[in-house]
Amino acid sequence: MSKEKVVLAYSGGLDTSVAVKWLREKYDVDVIAVAVDVGQPENLLMVQRKALTVGAVSSLVIDAEAEFARDFIAPAIQANALYQRKYPLGTALARPLIAKLLVDAAREHGAAAIAHGCTGKGNDQVRFDVTIGALAPDLRIIAPQREWGMNREQEIAYAKEHGIEVPVTSASPYSIDENMYGRSVEAGVLEDPWNEPPPEVWSWTMDPSETPETPQYIELTFKNGLPTVLNEKELGLAELIKELNQVAGQNGVGRIDMVEDRVVGIKSREIYECPAATVLLQAHRELEALVLPGELIRFKQTVEDAFSEQAYSGLWYSPLRESLSAFITHTQKFVSGSVRLKLHNGNCAVVGRKSESSLYDLSLATYDENDKFSHASAEGFIELFGLPTRVWAQKHGGKN
Ligand code: ARG
Repeated sequence: MSKEKVVLAYSGGLDTSVAVKWLREKYDVDVIAVAVDVGQPENLLMVQRKALTVGAVSSLVIDAEAEFARDFIAPAIQANALYQRKYPLGTALARPLIAKLLVDAAREHGAAAIAHGCTGKGNDQVRFDVTIGALAPDLRIIAPQREWGMNREQEIAYAKEHGIEVPVTSASPYSIDENMYGRSVEAGVLEDPWNEPPPEVWSWTMDPSETPETPQYIELTFKNGLPTVLNEKELGLAELIKELNQVAGQNGVGRIDMVEDRVVGIKSREIYECPAATVLLQAHRELEALVLPGELIRFKQTVEDAFSEQAYSGLWYSPLRESLSAFITHTQKFVSGSVRLKLHNGNCAVVGRKSESSLYDLSLATYDENDKFSHASAEGFIELFGLPTRVWAQKHGGKN
């Protein structure tokens, strides 16, 4: 009789390699390793091979770069999504996609369970479990890390005992997650929020004190709220993001150091490198400032915060997140135009913007003789605008 199958989210690292062995020992199952390409710099061919050497019965690599960009990053750009107004959600956005692809693989191979290498303290377990629950409530979820109760040393010992090569990177005290939209680093000396991140934690961005002396100007063109052209070169979203990571990273743009609130209630100190996200969100917001009415921008900010919290919390496939996105998509109809930015020594500044849909009217804004704004109407407007304030003051003024 053939064994029960488990689909494992496989990264090639120590945790998920040990998980392959552990799943076989503990549950007597066949493990199907799945690695998802969301634009991380790793060589996934090596990862694919490694899964087989550590005992998976089959090992798949799924190229999901374009899908990640189109279905997850694009809505996040349009939403100006930042968790706690700081973190562009790189890791958070990839999780529901990976979970969805795991579910697809489980269906295809007739697996009864999905396994992932998340610990019991982080957000990622929440995102995987909630997404799998939303898409395939019948599938069992196994989280070896959460179950096996081994600490780091015990895990390394287990790996050696079972002939699993312990990669040098496992000696690194940091926990790192990467995809095209950003790099997330936690643990090690970063656990003390008073410690400045040491130089070795950064990898996508140059130290701003060592970046070129001359500023670099770039131009981004957006169509319906999404970037389509970088410096006159038309690019697919994934390509554009990857190229922008290089350009902005070389200028030291995109370093974030924050203390954030995890879904499970823990405050944690994280650092992020997201050069492209930093530039894109700034440019997109600035374009919106030019083409959207002020009251829509203000209202959209509340929607953006709600979107960001849903995405962070693993509620991507929730009716609320989908409804928020529907609203956001509608707002992007006229968000087309170009933004010019100056990258220099870790800073990114918008220095120009233009759009066919611009609501900026020079004859209203100017202080010179071409001014068409009705100054006389301003007086009447203020009379009524300030009316409730005057009535209140008459009633309560001086009473304190
Ligand atoms: N704190 C970030 C988040 O929740 C990043 C998590 C990164 N994961 C990791 N294994 N290093 O999205």
